[in-house]
Amino acid sequence: MKPRMPEEFYRIKRLPPYVFAEVNALKAQARGEGRDVIDLGMGNPDGPTPPHIVAKLIEAVQNPKTHGYSSSRGIPGLRRAYAAYYARRFNVELDPEREIIVTLGSKEGFANLAQAITAPGDTILVPNPCYPIHSFGFIMAGASVRHVPVGPDVDFLAELKKAVQHSIPAPLAVVLNFPANPTAQSVDLDFYGEVVDFCRHQGIYVLSDLAYAEIYFDGKPPPSILEVPGARDIAVEFTSLSKTYSMAGWRIGFAVGNARLIGALGRVKSYLDYGAFTPIQVAATAALNGPQDCITEIRERYKARRDVLLDGLHQAGWDVPVPAGTMFAWAPIPEEFRGLGSLAFSKLLLERANVAVAPGGGFGEYGEGFVRIALVENRQRLRQASRNIKAFLSGRNDTAELRRAAARTAAAAAN
Ligand SMILES: Cc1ncc(COP(=O)(O)O)c(C=O)c1O
Repeated sequence: MKPRMPEEFYRIKRLPPYVFAEVNALKAQARGEGRDVIDLGMGNPDGPTPPHIVAKLIEAVQNPKTHGYSSSRGIPGLRRAYAAYYARRFNVELDPEREIIVTLGSKEGFANLAQAITAPGDTILVPNPCYPIHSFGFIMAGASVRHVPVGPDVDFLAELKKAVQHSIPAPLAVVLNFPANPTAQSVDLDFYGEVVDFCRHQGIYVLSDLAYAEIYFDGKPPPSILEVPGARDIAVEFTSLSKTYSMAGWRIGFAVGNARLIGALGRVKSYLDYGAFTPIQVAATAALNGPQDCITEIRERYKARRDVLLDGLHQAGWDVPVPAGTMFAWAPIPEEFRGLGSLAFSKLLLERANVAVAPGGGFGEYGEGFVRIALVENRQRLRQASRNIKAFLSGRNDTAELRRAAARTAAAAAN
């Protein structure tokens, strides 16, 4: 008899089916029926990359010297440009040799740092709800993830302290992400000060995702954890050009901070990749060293969208908190529909209002009761979305009809 091939694999078993797939399937079906679905589900930045950055890419690609393998850690000029960005934006001086590495987007950097530092069974503290790689990067690496609730009415620091106290073995690292995806929550420097103090004392590394460093609307720009004196003894920070310069498809991000962690990430990456295509790194350097008014324009575009969407939702009677940053609104499901759960409510919004959103439960158990609405369509479309939602919500007393609609959406998803 032939030996049986293994059909299940360690890492794949640790990855559940993609929670957003159900809403995506319904969205595709609705579009197939010719319905005009307004897609506020995924966080894919939709604006063009500024033309001077594109021009630099074209110029660089015409030089055959750029066509070979690049540098896994990132070309020196790009690392120097990033040190200059941290100095002017956060007043933080970084050593481009030891404290900065270029990644293929911040997501890749985060996932490979998880691989680099984790042994099976290590405990990692991760906010919940969270951007999926924050937990699954570590779950794939074999870690035990302990979820720390985060959200509008949660004292995250108190929850973090409680989680540390009850974690056995003691946690290796804690993940932070502010301004947050999906909750859009922000924090100030005092918060980071407390985290650094606490984690230094406990001997826990801090991995901070600051992907939305430049997408803020009111008041002060989000701080970097590295502004806290001594933070680099325990912390690394992930940032990205994806949102800042509308360069999501280019795949350029950075990890900066603690030299031991940056070294570990560099070591793993040296086995895995040869770095981003050199012309992309050259254009990224031009983005950082060139005129910066494009960042303001991109920020203003998201802000204008936020204002239109939140105004519209409030007029529709939906009391959604106004996000101070990121490209998301984190919307509590209206009371009348809360019992449905976030997936069924998202399906209902799609069926009844032609608006696709991301069910909060897809970001973790503490995301239940919410949906995430992304600012990824233009203002006219966002106005239309809130008009559709208003029409849907104003008919909400018709509970029998709503139940029938919910049953139809559930049946359609099952087919
Ligand atoms: C919090 C957060 N981190 C990281 C990323 C991924 O960024 P990048 O394109 O740099 O991989 C996203 C993208 O949506 C995000 O929301």
